[in-house]
Amino acid sequence: MKFFVDTAEIEPIRELAATGLLDGVTTNPSLIAKSGRDFMEVTREICEIVDGPVSAEVVALDHATMMKEAEILRKIADNVCIKVPLTVDGLKTCKALTGEGTMVNVTLCFSANQALLAAKAGASFISPFVGRHDDNGFDGMDLIEDIRLIYDNYDFATEILVASVRHTMHVLQAAKIGADVMTAPPKVIHDLFKHVLTEKGIEGFMADWAKTGQSIL
Ligand code: E4P
Repeated sequence: MKFFVDTAEIEPIRELAATGLLDGVTTNPSLIAKSGRDFMEVTREICEIVDGPVSAEVVALDHATMMKEAEILRKIADNVCIKVPLTVDGLKTCKALTGEGTMVNVTLCFSANQALLAAKAGASFISPFVGRHDDNGFDGMDLIEDIRLIYDNYDFATEILVASVRHTMHVLQAAKIGADVMTAPPKVIHDLFKHVLTEKGIEGFMADWAKTGQSIL
């Protein structure tokens, strides 16, 4: 499963990229606002740090303006992936852009039928929001299972990008279902490293090593 980080903050992206575990980045208008940075400038900087897809979202709601915005955004770097909302205009834009060889991430997906539409429109990625789904009394992971089944039934190449990930159990469940990608805030990715027995084990080994009075260097 590929790991994307869901942030527009440069330092956490740099830190995770250095682990070699980072396959891409997703941003959205809220994350750009939170960063306080200029959209174009921060997207350019992220694309220089990460080789994989960097999602940059259009903010227009009509197809013609979405295309104009996408035209500007895709010039930032070759690895920019245009993010469009799951609407009729968004999917028209998706079809046009993927037809021209531009990667497209269809966002704000909350049903398996919407995911089916995005795949038919040639989306590179579909982003079902599991956390927001859970918040509203649905099971986000049931949605991922349904999309996996439908995409496998028809051999769709669209990658399932599990979004709105809130905790490590979302990551585990997504991997068990066979989602292609997950995008999570930096904290959740760092939490994946943690285990109380790993920490306890290191403490024990360090204490015993100190007793030997030796040093490797
Ligand atoms: C994904 O691309 C979205 O940016 C993101 O995962 C939304 O997450 P949230 O529901 O925590 O805002």
